[in-house]
Amino acid sequence: MSPSTKNKNNTKPEKRILVTGAAGFIGSNFVHLLLNEKPNWHIVALDSLTYAGNLANLTDCLENQNVEFIKGDICDPQTVTQALANVDIVVNFAAESHVDRSILGCQDFIRTNVTGTQVLLDAARAANVKRFIQISTDEVYGSLGPEGYFTETSPLAPNSPYSASKAAADLLCRAYFKTYQFPVIVTRCSNNYGPYQFPEKLIPLFVTNLIENKKVPVYGDGLQVRDWIHVNDHCTAILAVIEKGAPGEIYNVGGNNDRPNLELVKMILEYLDKSESSIEYVTDRPGHDRRYAVDCSKIERELRWEPNIDFAEGLTRTIDWYKENPQWWQQIKTGQYLKYYQQQYGVTI
Ligand code: NAD
Ligand code: DAU
Repeated sequence: MSPSTKNKNNTKPEKRILVTGAAGFIGSNFVHLLLNEKPNWHIVALDSLTYAGNLANLTDCLENQNVEFIKGDICDPQTVTQALANVDIVVNFAAESHVDRSILGCQDFIRTNVTGTQVLLDAARAANVKRFIQISTDEVYGSLGPEGYFTETSPLAPNSPYSASKAAADLLCRAYFKTYQFPVIVTRCSNNYGPYQFPEKLIPLFVTNLIENKKVPVYGDGLQVRDWIHVNDHCTAILAVIEKGAPGEIYNVGGNNDRPNLELVKMILEYLDKSESSIEYVTDRPGHDRRYAVDCSKIERELRWEPNIDFAEGLTRTIDWYKENPQWWQQIKTGQYLKYYQQQYGVTI
């Protein structure tokens, strides 16, 4: 690890940014976006490479002279202090992110999502970081009835151990702003989809199962509603927040695209030329949130950001990506993954 203020090409970067969780789904897509949009920024990409972290998500990025990868844990003060040398901006994606796993056991969720955020906040404050973006989730608001939208002032009412751990981290961020005027900004985004998403989440799980002519497990009646946003749109929102967001603020991010799970599943079935007999209705997720829908008018109005990727097009592009990259997900769907699948769904695949 080098605390140097220079790039590998020996020029001074415009900004140095620490991206935690950089080998995960959204973090890796964000690194790809930064390399395109900010060629003069130096990226310190930190990730402890849990089951969800995958260096294959960053393959072409790691060769770039502006990227420095550190295998490290955000709960380790020494590691993060070293990674923060001369850093201007932190974006904290590192987390345990899967609701079902948090229901099976939430120790790792409290450790990374709460303690890890606290360790990172303390180290970033000591390093005089100018902007700290905490990547949170719309799940901290809990579940909506059939009407209405989450706004930034909706009460926090998390229902899963995962969302409770994310809400705890949000409140720590709020406290660090109020107490120390530390320039934290929290984003709360809806459900992302796109390339490099670990195949435990609905879209990559269903697409890869169907490609292999396997069944897809729909929880309960399948009428739960989620607001889907392409990961690239989420990443452009984060960049807008870095550049134009106000410290201490919260910004909701969404796709203006809420729809029932079954509607989405039928779109995937149709594109892959499969029938509804591929659906297997399975026991519902305990505490399953019925509906999420995000009002993102604040970020649209104040930061002039809006989602750009049409859902039907983004979804087919995403399905094509999984069809074209079987080696990426076939390497994941082995070993520990199969044990998880058996534990979660009670069947082997
Ligand atoms: P992911 O599970 O794909 O990636 C998480 C990454 O964090 C992995 O690479 C993992 O190795 C790393 N990590 C875990 N614990 C770590 C630790 N202690 N130290 C360092 N690295 C660690 O998750 P994702 O879907 O990319 O989500 C990223 C962030 O965005 C999370 O904070 C999540 O809560 C939030 N979020 C996700 C979505 C979504 O739909 N996926 C929506 C809104 C918000
Ligand atoms: O809303 C943002 C959140 O979106 C993020 O904070 C989380 O990190 C991310 O995992 C996601 O949470 P969800 O629980 O909404 O995503 P998931 O893909 O697990 O499930 C989407 C919906 O599909 C949800 O209603 C549960 C349902 N589902 C999921 C799986 C894995 C099924 O019906 N069957 C399944 O096998």
